[in-house]
Amino acid sequence: MSGTAWDPEQYSLFADEREQPFWDLAGLIEPRAGAMLVDLGCGDGRLTAELFDRIGAGRALGIDSSSEMLARADLLARGEVTFALGDISTWRGSGCDIVFSNAALQWVGDHGEVLGRWRESLAPGGQLAVQVPANWDHASHLVLAEVARERLGADAPPDPVATNVRRPEEYSALLYALGFKRQHVRLQVYTHLLADTDALVEWMKGTSMNRVKRLLQPDEYESFVIAYKARILEVLGYQRPFFYPFKRILMWGSLA
Ligand SMILES: C[S@@+](CC[C@H](N)C(=O)[O-])C[C@H]1O[C@@H](n2cnc3c(N)ncnc32)[C@H](O)[C@@H]1O
Repeated sequence: MSGTAWDPEQYSLFADEREQPFWDLAGLIEPRAGAMLVDLGCGDGRLTAELFDRIGAGRALGIDSSSEMLARADLLARGEVTFALGDISTWRGSGCDIVFSNAALQWVGDHGEVLGRWRESLAPGGQLAVQVPANWDHASHLVLAEVARERLGADAPPDPVATNVRRPEEYSALLYALGFKRQHVRLQVYTHLLADTDALVEWMKGTSMNRVKRLLQPDEYESFVIAYKARILEVLGYQRPFFYPFKRILMWGSLA
């Protein structure tokens, strides 16, 4: 994922809704005083720093590939909380007590290999906590894929969630194979009441639409958003408020 498409302002428009899964995932962690915590795909680092405080970790390292996100995260860096540019698809650490990743793994493929590397980064007794969206089959995402195909043809980027994210039971088996005998994997539906269908477009501009934005000139992107909005209205009708159920997979495992 290119770093240049992320817009921290747009992403934070729905900060409360996006934050709940982060804390649900954090709730699965068994806190260990002084733990070495790594947050992969840490975004603007605000939640990384809060997580560090809440679980009483000894050190936290946030990794992200977006220079826009990291510029914000760096403002929050303090002695034991640091941030670095990096690619979570190839990242490998060592001696970590907690490898945490909220809403980032879906951007990369080969989850077996990637989670294998994250597992190798853990110290004995280490914990892995990962959340990925699984909403690719909602109209919001299907329409995005459809309009992208119409506008970009063969260059239309595939929906990474549809392509990369697996079923909950597959993650459970994968975690087991990686040595996480103790685990918790669940599919959770988050219910969001957005102001109206237009707000759904703003939601999508903050995340999934980035994969199209990075391929288009600004005027082409503007026209893409208009076409997406029109198609959403055709498919869903104008709804005020708009009830947006959003499926996510939360997984946690602990090594012996
Ligand atoms: C949806 S945001 C989530 C941010 C943060 N984890 C949170 O919960 O607020 C996804 C983040 O993953 C980062 N990301 C996407 N692909 C990445 C990659 N290959 N390596 C590192 N970071 C990546 C993006 O830059 C973005 O900051």
